[in-house]
Amino acid sequence: MVKYVIAGIIILIVVLFLLWCLHQKKQGLCPICTLKQFVCKSKLTIRIPGNEFYNGGDAPTPPMGWSSWNSFRNNIDENLIYDTAVALKESGLAEAGYKYVNLDDCWHSSVRDENGCLQGDLSLFSSGIDTLCAKINALGLKMGLYSSNGDYTCEDLPASLGYEKKDADTFARWGVEYFKYDFCHNVKIPSVAPLVEKVEIRMGEKTINLVSDDAKLSGLACINNDKRLESGKYISFLGQGKGKAEFNLDCEKNGSYPLTLVVKKSGRYTKYLIVQVNDKFYEMFFPETKAWSTVGRYQCEVELNKGENRIALFNPVCTRADSAYIQYKRMGEALRNASPDKPITYSICEWGRNNPKNWAWNAGNLWRTTPDIRPYWKWINIIYNKNLALAEFAGPGHWNDPDMLEVGNGKLTVDENRTHFSLWCMMSAPLILGNDIRKYNVDSNDDVLEILKNRQMIAIDQDELGHQCVRYKRTSKADWLVKKLSGNRHAVCIYNRTSKLTELSFNSSDLPAEITQISEYTEVWSNKKYKGQAFKIAVNPHGCAVFVSK
Ligand code: GAL
Repeated sequence: MVKYVIAGIIILIVVLFLLWCLHQKKQGLCPICTLKQFVCKSKLTIRIPGNEFYNGGDAPTPPMGWSSWNSFRNNIDENLIYDTAVALKESGLAEAGYKYVNLDDCWHSSVRDENGCLQGDLSLFSSGIDTLCAKINALGLKMGLYSSNGDYTCEDLPASLGYEKKDADTFARWGVEYFKYDFCHNVKIPSVAPLVEKVEIRMGEKTINLVSDDAKLSGLACINNDKRLESGKYISFLGQGKGKAEFNLDCEKNGSYPLTLVVKKSGRYTKYLIVQVNDKFYEMFFPETKAWSTVGRYQCEVELNKGENRIALFNPVCTRADSAYIQYKRMGEALRNASPDKPITYSICEWGRNNPKNWAWNAGNLWRTTPDIRPYWKWINIIYNKNLALAEFAGPGHWNDPDMLEVGNGKLTVDENRTHFSLWCMMSAPLILGNDIRKYNVDSNDDVLEILKNRQMIAIDQDELGHQCVRYKRTSKADWLVKKLSGNRHAVCIYNRTSKLTELSFNSSDLPAEITQISEYTEVWSNKKYKGQAFKIAVNPHGCAVFVSK
Protein backbone atom coordinates (compact mmCIF):
# COMPACT_ATOMS: atom_id res chain seq x y z
CA MET A 1 0.00 0.00 0.00
CA VAL A 2 2.74 2.47 1.09
CA LYS A 3 4.61 1.60 -2.10
CA TYR A 4 1.63 2.64 -4.24
CA VAL A 5 1.21 5.90 -2.35
CA ILE A 6 4.89 6.75 -2.86
CA ALA A 7 4.71 5.78 -6.55
CA GLY A 8 1.54 7.90 -6.89
CA ILE A 9 3.24 10.91 -5.30
CA ILE A 10 6.26 10.53 -7.56
CA ILE A 11 4.06 10.28 -10.67
CA LEU A 12 2.11 13.35 -9.52
CA ILE A 13 5.35 15.33 -9.02
CA VAL A 14 6.62 14.31 -12.46
CA VAL A 15 3.31 15.24 -14.11
CA LEU A 16 3.21 18.58 -12.29
CA PHE A 17 6.82 19.23 -13.30
CA LEU A 18 6.04 18.46 -16.97
CA LEU A 19 2.96 20.68 -16.85
CA TRP A 20 5.06 23.46 -15.32
CA CYS A 21 7.67 23.02 -18.09
CA LEU A 22 4.94 23.22 -20.73
CA HIS A 23 3.50 26.33 -19.09
CA GLN A 24 6.96 27.93 -19.02
CA LYS A 25 7.49 27.14 -22.70
CA LYS A 26 4.11 28.62 -23.58
CA GLN A 27 5.16 31.85 -21.83
CA GLY A 28 8.32 32.06 -23.92
CA LEU A 29 10.45 30.96 -20.94
CA CYS A 30 13.14 28.32 -20.82
CA PRO A 31 12.31 25.93 -17.93
CA ILE A 32 15.89 24.71 -17.49
CA CYS A 33 17.12 28.33 -17.27
CA THR A 34 14.45 29.15 -14.68
CA LEU A 35 15.50 26.15 -12.61
CA LYS A 36 19.15 27.14 -12.93
CA GLN A 37 18.31 30.54 -11.44
CA PHE A 38 17.39 28.88 -8.17
CA VAL A 39 20.77 27.18 -8.04
CA CYS A 40 23.08 30.05 -8.99
CA LYS A 41 21.04 33.06 -7.97
CA SER A 42 23.51 35.88 -8.09
CA LYS A 43 25.93 34.83 -10.80
CA LEU A 44 26.46 37.48 -13.44
CA THR A 45 25.73 35.97 -16.83
CA ILE A 46 26.12 39.15 -18.87
CA ARG A 47 29.54 39.41 -20.49
CA ILE A 48 31.43 42.64 -19.79
CA PRO A 49 33.83 43.27 -22.65
CA GLY A 50 37.49 43.55 -21.62
CA ASN A 51 38.48 45.16 -18.35
CA GLU A 52 36.41 48.29 -18.75
CA PHE A 53 36.46 50.18 -15.49
CA TYR A 54 33.80 52.81 -14.75
CA ASN A 55 35.08 56.03 -16.26
CA GLY A 56 33.21 58.49 -14.05
CA GLY A 57 33.72 59.79 -10.51
CA ASP A 58 36.96 60.81 -8.90
CA ALA A 59 38.51 58.04 -6.85
CA PRO A 60 42.15 57.42 -7.83
CA THR A 61 42.65 56.63 -4.13
CA PRO A 62 39.95 55.43 -1.70
CA PRO A 63 37.47 58.26 -0.95
CA MET A 64 37.74 59.91 2.48
CA GLY A 65 35.01 61.77 4.33
CA TRP A 66 32.22 61.49 6.87
CA SER A 67 28.68 60.10 6.73
CA SER A 68 25.69 60.75 8.93
CA TRP A 69 24.41 57.17 9.14
CA ASN A 70 26.44 55.30 11.76
CA SER A 71 25.91 57.89 14.50
CA PHE A 72 22.71 59.68 13.59
CA ARG A 73 20.50 57.34 11.56
CA ASN A 74 17.28 59.28 10.79
CA ASN A 75 18.04 62.16 13.19
CA ILE A 76 19.71 64.64 10.88
CA ASP A 77 19.05 68.22 9.90
CA GLU A 78 20.90 71.02 8.10
CA ASN A 79 22.45 72.42 11.29
CA LEU A 80 23.89 69.10 12.37
CA ILE A 81 25.36 68.57 8.91
CA TYR A 82 26.84 72.05 8.70
CA ASP A 83 28.25 71.87 12.25
CA THR A 84 29.87 68.57 11.33
CA ALA A 85 31.43 70.15 8.25
CA VAL A 86 32.81 72.95 10.42
CA ALA A 87 34.13 70.37 12.92
CA LEU A 88 35.85 68.49 10.08
CA LYS A 89 37.77 71.67 9.37
CA GLU A 90 38.43 72.72 12.94
CA SER A 91 39.61 69.32 14.07
CA GLY A 92 42.19 69.07 11.30
CA LEU A 93 40.40 66.04 9.86
CA ALA A 94 39.71 67.88 6.60
CA GLU A 95 43.39 68.70 6.30
CA ALA A 96 44.24 65.06 6.91
CA GLY A 97 42.19 64.20 3.80
CA TYR A 98 38.53 63.75 4.88
CA LYS A 99 36.74 65.92 2.36
CA TYR A 100 33.26 64.48 1.75
CA VAL A 101 30.33 65.41 4.00
CA ASN A 102 27.78 62.72 3.15
CA LEU A 103 24.10 62.86 3.99
CA ASP A 104 22.87 59.28 4.25
CA ASP A 105 19.22 58.19 4.36
CA CYS A 106 16.54 60.61 5.62
CA TRP A 107 17.86 63.83 4.11
CA HIS A 108 14.85 64.14 1.88
CA SER A 109 11.14 64.70 1.83
CA SER A 110 8.55 62.01 1.25
CA VAL A 111 7.25 64.06 -1.68
CA ARG A 112 8.99 65.04 -4.87
CA ASP A 113 8.58 68.70 -5.95
CA GLU A 114 6.18 69.93 -8.66
CA ASN A 115 8.74 68.97 -11.33
CA GLY A 116 9.10 65.47 -9.97
CA CYS A 117 12.54 66.17 -8.45
CA LEU A 118 13.69 64.94 -5.06
CA GLN A 119 13.87 67.70 -2.44
CA GLY A 120 15.31 67.96 1.05
CA ASP A 121 13.06 67.34 4.07
CA LEU A 122 10.82 70.38 3.97
CA SER A 123 11.30 71.31 7.59
CA LEU A 124 14.64 69.75 8.61
CA PHE A 125 16.48 70.99 5.50
CA SER A 126 14.28 74.01 4.87
CA SER A 127 17.10 76.17 3.43
CA GLY A 128 17.43 73.71 0.56
CA ILE A 129 20.06 71.14 -0.26
CA ASP A 130 21.68 73.45 -2.82
CA THR A 131 22.23 76.11 -0.13
CA LEU A 132 23.71 73.54 2.25
CA CYS A 133 25.97 72.25 -0.51
CA ALA A 134 27.20 75.78 -1.28
CA LYS A 135 27.98 76.34 2.42
CA ILE A 136 29.88 73.06 2.61
CA ASN A 137 31.80 73.95 -0.56
CA ALA A 138 32.66 77.34 0.93
CA LEU A 139 34.50 75.44 3.69
CA GLY A 140 36.57 73.74 0.98
CA LEU A 141 34.63 70.47 1.42
CA LYS A 142 32.40 68.42 -0.87
CA MET A 143 28.87 67.17 -0.31
CA GLY A 144 27.56 63.64 -0.79
CA LEU A 145 23.99 62.36 -1.05
CA TYR A 146 22.21 59.05 -0.81
CA SER A 147 19.34 57.25 -2.54
CA SER A 148 18.27 53.70 -3.21
CA ASN A 149 18.17 51.58 -6.34
CA GLY A 150 14.54 50.80 -5.62
CA ASP A 151 11.10 52.31 -5.25
CA TYR A 152 11.99 53.59 -1.76
CA THR A 153 15.10 54.01 0.38
CA CYS A 154 15.75 51.73 3.35
CA GLU A 155 13.86 54.28 5.47
CA ASP A 156 10.92 54.14 3.03
CA LEU A 157 11.48 57.52 1.42
CA PRO A 158 11.24 58.11 -2.35
CA ALA A 159 14.16 56.57 -4.23
CA SER A 160 15.68 56.65 -7.68
CA LEU A 161 14.86 53.44 -9.59
CA GLY A 162 13.22 54.66 -12.79
CA TYR A 163 14.25 58.26 -12.00
CA GLU A 164 17.96 57.85 -12.63
CA LYS A 165 18.41 60.69 -15.11
CA LYS A 166 16.12 63.10 -13.29
CA ASP A 167 17.77 62.49 -9.91
CA ALA A 168 21.33 62.52 -11.26
CA ASP A 169 20.58 65.85 -12.95
CA THR A 170 19.16 67.23 -9.70
CA PHE A 171 22.22 66.12 -7.69
CA ALA A 172 24.52 67.65 -10.31
CA ARG A 173 22.55 70.91 -10.26
CA TRP A 174 22.99 71.12 -6.48
CA GLY A 175 26.74 70.48 -6.78
CA VAL A 176 26.83 67.00 -5.20
CA GLU A 177 30.20 65.21 -5.60
CA TYR A 178 29.59 61.82 -3.94
CA PHE A 179 26.61 59.55 -4.30
CA LYS A 180 25.76 56.38 -2.37
CA TYR A 181 23.18 54.12 -3.99
CA ASP A 182 21.51 51.55 -1.73
CA PHE A 183 19.48 48.45 -2.66
CA CYS A 184 16.34 48.60 -0.49
CA HIS A 185 12.95 48.17 -2.20
CA ASN A 186 14.77 47.02 -5.32
CA VAL A 187 12.64 45.62 -8.10
CA LYS A 188 14.40 43.01 -10.20
CA ILE A 189 14.34 43.54 -13.94
CA PRO A 190 12.19 40.76 -15.39
CA SER A 191 14.05 37.95 -17.14
CA VAL A 192 11.10 37.43 -19.42
CA ALA A 193 10.98 39.07 -22.84
CA PRO A 194 7.79 39.92 -24.69
CA LEU A 195 6.62 37.87 -27.67
CA VAL A 196 7.48 40.08 -30.64
CA GLU A 197 5.25 40.11 -33.70
CA LYS A 198 7.01 42.92 -35.53
CA VAL A 199 9.17 46.01 -35.37
CA GLU A 200 7.73 49.13 -36.99
CA ILE A 201 9.84 52.15 -37.84
CA ARG A 202 8.22 55.36 -38.92
CA MET A 203 10.28 57.25 -41.52
CA GLY A 204 8.52 60.41 -42.65
CA GLU A 205 5.42 59.32 -44.53
CA LYS A 206 6.22 55.63 -44.65
CA THR A 207 6.32 52.86 -42.11
CA ILE A 208 8.85 50.05 -42.40
CA ASN A 209 7.68 46.74 -40.96
CA LEU A 210 10.21 44.15 -39.88
CA VAL A 211 8.48 40.82 -39.23
CA SER A 212 9.68 37.53 -37.82
CA ASP A 213 10.73 36.18 -41.23
CA ASP A 214 13.10 39.15 -41.65
CA ALA A 215 14.94 38.29 -38.45
CA LYS A 216 18.17 36.44 -38.02
CA LEU A 217 17.53 34.39 -34.90
CA SER A 218 20.15 32.99 -32.56
CA GLY A 219 20.23 30.99 -29.33
CA LEU A 220 16.83 29.66 -28.30
CA ALA A 221 14.89 32.37 -30.17
CA CYS A 222 12.32 30.83 -32.50
CA ILE A 223 9.27 31.60 -34.63
CA ASN A 224 5.78 30.48 -33.53
CA ASN A 225 2.44 30.60 -35.33
CA ASP A 226 -0.68 32.39 -34.17
CA LYS A 227 -3.53 32.90 -36.61
CA ARG A 228 -4.92 35.79 -34.60
CA LEU A 229 -1.90 37.94 -35.44
CA GLU A 230 -1.80 40.02 -38.61
CA SER A 231 1.44 38.40 -39.74
CA GLY A 232 0.39 35.03 -38.32
CA LYS A 233 3.76 34.66 -36.53
CA TYR A 234 5.74 35.92 -33.57
CA ILE A 235 9.23 35.51 -32.10
CA SER A 236 9.61 33.91 -28.69
CA PHE A 237 12.48 32.97 -26.32
CA LEU A 238 14.27 36.32 -26.35
CA GLY A 239 14.53 36.24 -22.55
CA GLN A 240 17.03 35.11 -19.89
CA GLY A 241 19.98 35.91 -22.11
CA LYS A 242 19.20 32.89 -24.18
CA GLY A 243 18.00 34.26 -27.51
CA LYS A 244 18.38 37.18 -29.89
CA ALA A 245 16.59 38.50 -32.99
CA GLU A 246 18.53 40.73 -35.36
CA PHE A 247 17.28 42.83 -38.27
CA ASN A 248 18.97 44.97 -40.90
CA LEU A 249 17.40 48.25 -41.84
CA ASP A 250 18.33 50.82 -44.48
CA CYS A 251 17.80 54.44 -43.67
CA GLU A 252 18.03 57.49 -45.92
CA LYS A 253 19.34 59.98 -43.41
CA ASN A 254 20.76 60.19 -39.90
CA GLY A 255 18.22 61.05 -37.26
CA SER A 256 15.91 60.07 -34.47
CA TYR A 257 12.99 57.82 -35.44
CA PRO A 258 10.06 56.32 -33.54
CA LEU A 259 10.36 52.55 -33.18
CA THR A 260 7.26 50.53 -32.27
CA LEU A 261 7.37 46.97 -31.04
CA VAL A 262 4.16 45.14 -31.74
CA VAL A 263 4.00 42.38 -29.14
CA LYS A 264 1.61 39.54 -28.57
CA LYS A 265 0.02 40.12 -25.17
CA SER A 266 0.74 37.35 -22.71
CA GLY A 267 1.09 36.61 -19.05
CA ARG A 268 0.33 38.42 -15.83
CA TYR A 269 3.95 39.40 -15.32
CA THR A 270 6.19 42.26 -16.42
CA LYS A 271 8.67 41.83 -19.25
CA TYR A 272 11.83 43.54 -20.41
CA LEU A 273 13.73 43.94 -23.64
CA ILE A 274 16.83 45.73 -24.81
CA VAL A 275 16.58 47.21 -28.27
CA GLN A 276 20.11 47.64 -29.51
CA VAL A 277 20.42 49.93 -32.52
CA ASN A 278 23.99 49.87 -33.83
CA ASP A 279 25.99 50.62 -30.66
CA LYS A 280 23.19 52.28 -28.62
CA PHE A 281 21.00 50.45 -26.08
CA TYR A 282 17.37 51.30 -25.33
CA GLU A 283 15.63 49.62 -22.40
CA MET A 284 11.94 48.79 -22.74
CA PHE A 285 9.59 47.62 -19.98
CA PHE A 286 6.24 45.92 -20.59
CA PRO A 287 3.43 45.72 -18.04
CA GLU A 288 1.66 42.55 -16.98
CA THR A 289 -1.20 41.82 -19.31
CA LYS A 290 -4.79 42.23 -18.30
CA ALA A 291 -6.06 43.44 -21.67
CA TRP A 292 -8.54 42.00 -24.15
CA SER A 293 -6.59 42.75 -27.34
CA THR A 294 -4.19 40.24 -28.85
CA VAL A 295 -1.36 42.70 -29.44
CA GLY A 296 0.00 45.87 -27.88
CA ARG A 297 2.22 48.67 -29.22
CA TYR A 298 5.27 49.83 -27.23
CA GLN A 299 7.51 52.62 -28.39
CA CYS A 300 10.88 54.31 -28.05
CA GLU A 301 12.84 56.88 -30.04
CA VAL A 302 15.99 55.47 -31.63
CA GLU A 303 18.93 56.98 -33.46
CA LEU A 304 19.46 55.63 -36.99
CA ASN A 305 22.39 56.22 -39.32
CA LYS A 306 22.25 56.90 -43.02
CA GLY A 307 22.79 53.57 -44.79
CA GLU A 308 22.62 50.19 -43.11
CA ASN A 309 21.59 49.81 -39.45
CA ARG A 310 21.55 46.77 -37.23
CA ILE A 311 18.69 46.31 -34.77
CA ALA A 312 18.94 43.57 -32.15
CA LEU A 313 16.28 42.52 -29.65
CA PHE A 314 17.20 40.56 -26.53
CA ASN A 315 16.76 40.41 -22.77
CA PRO A 316 20.14 39.57 -21.17
CA VAL A 317 18.77 39.33 -17.61
CA CYS A 318 19.05 35.83 -16.29
CA THR A 319 19.95 36.27 -12.63
CA ARG A 320 19.43 38.83 -9.88
CA ALA A 321 23.07 39.92 -10.39
CA ASP A 322 22.37 40.73 -14.06
CA SER A 323 19.49 42.93 -13.00
CA ALA A 324 21.51 44.71 -10.29
CA TYR A 325 24.37 45.27 -12.72
CA ILE A 326 22.13 46.87 -15.37
CA GLN A 327 20.39 49.09 -12.81
CA TYR A 328 23.59 50.23 -11.08
CA LYS A 329 25.24 50.88 -14.43
CA ARG A 330 22.22 52.90 -15.55
CA MET A 331 22.67 55.22 -12.56
CA GLY A 332 26.46 55.41 -13.07
CA GLU A 333 25.94 56.57 -16.64
CA ALA A 334 23.32 59.09 -15.55
CA LEU A 335 25.72 60.55 -12.95
CA ARG A 336 28.58 60.73 -15.41
CA ASN A 337 26.46 62.43 -18.06
CA ALA A 338 24.85 64.79 -15.55
CA SER A 339 28.10 66.17 -14.24
CA PRO A 340 30.99 65.75 -16.67
CA ASP A 341 33.01 68.66 -15.26
CA LYS A 342 32.48 68.06 -11.55
CA PRO A 343 32.69 64.27 -11.22
CA ILE A 344 30.34 62.51 -8.81
CA THR A 345 32.09 59.63 -7.06
CA TYR A 346 29.70 56.71 -7.18
CA SER A 347 29.36 54.33 -4.24
CA ILE A 348 27.37 51.14 -4.85
CA CYS A 349 25.72 49.67 -1.77
CA GLU A 350 24.00 46.33 -2.38
CA TRP A 351 25.75 44.72 0.62
CA GLY A 352 27.75 42.30 -1.54
CA ARG A 353 24.55 40.39 -2.32
CA ASN A 354 24.92 40.12 -6.09
CA ASN A 355 28.59 39.28 -6.33
CA PRO A 356 29.60 42.89 -7.09
CA LYS A 357 33.22 41.82 -7.57
CA ASN A 358 32.10 40.50 -10.96
CA TRP A 359 30.58 43.72 -12.27
CA ALA A 360 30.66 46.71 -9.91
CA TRP A 361 34.05 47.98 -11.17
CA ASN A 362 32.35 48.49 -14.54
CA ALA A 363 29.38 50.33 -12.99
CA GLY A 364 30.83 52.54 -10.23
CA ASN A 365 33.87 53.57 -8.15
CA LEU A 366 33.33 51.57 -4.96
CA TRP A 367 31.00 48.84 -3.82
CA ARG A 368 29.95 47.46 -0.47
CA THR A 369 31.15 43.92 0.03
CA THR A 370 29.34 43.14 3.27
CA PRO A 371 26.19 43.69 5.32
CA ASP A 372 26.04 46.80 7.53
CA ILE A 373 28.86 47.35 9.99
CA ARG A 374 28.12 47.58 13.75
CA PRO A 375 30.40 48.87 16.52
CA TYR A 376 31.10 45.41 18.03
CA TRP A 377 34.45 43.74 17.65
CA LYS A 378 33.07 40.35 16.63
CA TRP A 379 31.11 41.89 13.80
CA ILE A 380 33.94 44.16 12.62
CA ASN A 381 36.14 41.07 12.52
CA ILE A 382 33.61 39.20 10.36
CA ILE A 383 33.36 42.13 7.94
CA TYR A 384 37.15 42.37 7.77
CA ASN A 385 37.45 38.67 6.89
CA LYS A 386 34.85 38.92 4.16
CA ASN A 387 36.44 41.95 2.54
CA LEU A 388 40.00 40.67 2.92
CA ALA A 389 39.32 37.82 0.51
CA LEU A 390 38.53 40.27 -2.30
CA ALA A 391 41.97 41.87 -2.68
CA GLU A 392 42.36 41.20 -6.38
CA PHE A 393 39.31 43.32 -7.27
CA ALA A 394 40.50 46.61 -5.75
CA GLY A 395 42.60 49.22 -7.52
CA PRO A 396 42.73 52.92 -8.42
CA GLY A 397 39.21 54.11 -9.30
CA HIS A 398 37.50 50.89 -8.11
CA TRP A 399 37.46 49.88 -4.46
CA ASN A 400 36.02 47.19 -2.20
CA ASP A 401 33.98 48.91 0.51
CA PRO A 402 33.72 47.05 3.84
CA ASP A 403 31.41 49.87 5.04
CA MET A 404 31.91 53.13 6.90
CA LEU A 405 34.11 53.38 9.96
CA GLU A 406 32.85 52.75 13.48
CA VAL A 407 36.02 54.20 15.04
CA GLY A 408 34.86 56.14 18.09
CA ASN A 409 31.46 54.45 18.24
CA GLY A 410 29.94 51.94 20.63
CA LYS A 411 32.19 50.45 23.26
CA LEU A 412 35.23 49.74 21.10
CA THR A 413 38.47 49.89 23.09
CA VAL A 414 41.33 52.14 22.01
CA ASP A 415 43.09 49.08 20.59
CA GLU A 416 39.98 48.00 18.73
CA ASN A 417 39.56 51.49 17.27
CA ARG A 418 43.20 51.48 16.20
CA THR A 419 42.98 47.98 14.70
CA HIS A 420 39.71 48.74 12.91
CA PHE A 421 41.33 51.79 11.32
CA SER A 422 44.56 49.92 10.52
CA LEU A 423 42.75 47.00 8.89
CA TRP A 424 40.65 49.37 6.75
CA CYS A 425 43.80 51.24 5.68
CA MET A 426 45.63 48.00 4.90
CA MET A 427 42.63 46.93 2.78
CA SER A 428 42.61 50.24 0.82
CA ALA A 429 39.08 50.78 2.08
CA PRO A 430 37.22 54.05 1.67
CA LEU A 431 37.67 55.99 4.92
CA ILE A 432 34.23 57.38 5.64
CA LEU A 433 34.00 58.41 9.29
CA GLY A 434 30.87 57.41 11.17
CA ASN A 435 31.33 59.09 14.55
CA ASP A 436 30.06 62.39 15.93
CA ILE A 437 32.98 64.70 15.31
CA ARG A 438 31.36 67.93 16.46
CA LYS A 439 33.14 67.66 19.79
CA TYR A 440 36.65 67.99 18.37
CA ASN A 441 38.85 70.94 17.60
CA VAL A 442 42.55 70.88 16.67
CA ASP A 443 43.56 70.91 20.32
CA SER A 444 41.34 68.00 21.30
CA ASN A 445 43.55 65.49 22.96
CA ASP A 446 41.43 62.54 22.07
CA ASP A 447 42.55 59.00 21.20
CA VAL A 448 39.91 58.67 18.50
CA LEU A 449 40.91 61.91 16.78
CA GLU A 450 44.55 60.93 16.95
CA ILE A 451 43.80 57.56 15.37
CA LEU A 452 41.77 59.07 12.55
CA LYS A 453 44.44 61.67 11.82
CA ASN A 454 47.42 59.33 11.87
CA ARG A 455 49.28 60.50 8.76
CA GLN A 456 51.32 57.34 8.28
CA MET A 457 48.26 55.14 8.45
CA ILE A 458 46.31 57.38 6.08
CA ALA A 459 49.26 57.32 3.67
CA ILE A 460 49.08 53.52 3.67
CA ASP A 461 45.39 53.68 2.75
CA GLN A 462 45.95 56.36 0.13
CA ASP A 463 49.03 54.85 -1.46
CA GLU A 464 48.92 55.52 -5.19
CA LEU A 465 49.39 51.86 -6.19
CA GLY A 466 45.98 51.08 -4.71
CA HIS A 467 46.89 47.53 -3.68
CA GLN A 468 44.63 45.89 -1.13
CA CYS A 469 46.61 43.89 1.44
CA VAL A 470 46.75 40.10 1.47
CA ARG A 471 47.01 37.80 4.47
CA TYR A 472 50.25 35.86 4.15
CA LYS A 473 50.19 34.12 7.51
CA ARG A 474 47.51 33.10 9.97
CA THR A 475 47.74 31.26 13.26
CA SER A 476 45.11 30.53 15.89
CA LYS A 477 46.13 33.83 17.51
CA ALA A 478 46.96 36.33 14.83
CA ASP A 479 46.85 37.47 11.21
CA TRP A 480 49.85 38.80 9.26
CA LEU A 481 48.94 41.12 6.39
CA VAL A 482 51.14 42.72 3.78
CA LYS A 483 50.36 45.60 1.46
CA LYS A 484 52.61 46.65 -1.41
CA LEU A 485 53.33 50.38 -1.42
CA SER A 486 54.78 52.73 -4.00
CA GLY A 487 58.55 53.31 -4.03
CA ASN A 488 59.23 49.59 -3.60
CA ARG A 489 58.03 49.72 0.00
CA HIS A 490 55.48 47.67 1.88
CA ALA A 491 53.45 47.68 5.09
CA VAL A 492 52.98 44.69 7.38
CA CYS A 493 50.17 44.54 9.92
CA ILE A 494 50.19 41.98 12.71
CA TYR A 495 46.73 41.68 14.19
CA ASN A 496 46.21 39.93 17.52
CA ARG A 497 42.78 38.30 17.25
CA THR A 498 42.79 37.07 20.82
CA SER A 499 41.56 38.93 23.87
CA LYS A 500 44.93 38.52 25.58
CA LEU A 501 48.21 40.41 25.40
CA THR A 502 50.23 38.22 23.03
CA GLU A 503 53.83 38.14 21.98
CA LEU A 504 53.98 37.86 18.20
CA SER A 505 56.95 37.69 15.89
CA PHE A 506 57.69 39.31 12.59
CA ASN A 507 60.01 37.49 10.26
CA SER A 508 60.61 38.94 6.83
CA SER A 509 61.41 35.51 5.40
CA ASP A 510 57.66 34.67 5.77
CA LEU A 511 56.74 37.44 3.31
CA PRO A 512 55.48 36.46 -0.14
CA ALA A 513 58.29 36.13 -2.72
CA GLU A 514 57.21 39.18 -4.77
CA ILE A 515 57.79 41.54 -1.81
CA THR A 516 61.20 43.18 -1.91
CA GLN A 517 62.98 42.28 1.33
CA ILE A 518 63.83 45.32 3.42
CA SER A 519 65.04 45.26 6.97
CA GLU A 520 64.28 48.73 8.32
CA TYR A 521 60.78 49.46 9.54
CA THR A 522 58.86 52.09 11.48
CA GLU A 523 55.94 50.90 13.60
CA VAL A 524 53.11 53.32 12.86
CA TRP A 525 51.32 53.52 16.23
CA SER A 526 54.43 53.75 18.44
CA ASN A 527 56.64 55.45 15.86
CA LYS A 528 59.45 53.11 16.97
CA LYS A 529 62.16 52.03 14.51
CA TYR A 530 62.91 48.33 13.99
CA LYS A 531 66.01 46.93 12.28
CA GLY A 532 66.70 43.38 11.20
CA GLN A 533 64.96 40.48 9.48
CA ALA A 534 63.08 39.26 12.52
CA PHE A 535 61.80 40.67 15.80
CA LYS A 536 59.15 40.13 18.43
CA ILE A 537 56.49 42.48 19.69
CA ALA A 538 53.84 42.27 22.41
CA VAL A 539 50.44 43.12 20.95
CA ASN A 540 47.43 44.16 23.05
CA PRO A 541 44.10 42.25 22.97
CA HIS A 542 42.44 42.88 19.58
CA GLY A 543 45.36 45.21 18.94
CA CYS A 544 47.79 45.42 16.07
CA ALA A 545 51.24 46.59 15.07
CA VAL A 546 51.79 48.12 11.65
CA PHE A 547 55.31 48.22 10.20
CA VAL A 548 56.13 50.37 7.20
CA SER A 549 59.36 49.56 5.40
CA LYS A 550 61.85 52.33 4.65
C1 GAL B 1 21.52 50.39 4.53
C2 GAL B 1 22.96 50.73 4.23
C3 GAL B 1 23.44 51.63 5.33
C4 GAL B 1 22.59 52.87 5.38
C5 GAL B 1 21.12 52.51 5.53
C6 GAL B 1 20.22 53.72 5.41
O1 GAL B 1 21.03 49.55 3.53
O2 GAL B 1 23.72 49.57 4.15
O3 GAL B 1 24.80 51.96 5.15
O4 GAL B 1 22.80 53.62 4.23
O5 GAL B 1 20.73 51.56 4.56
O6 GAL B 1 18.89 53.38 5.51
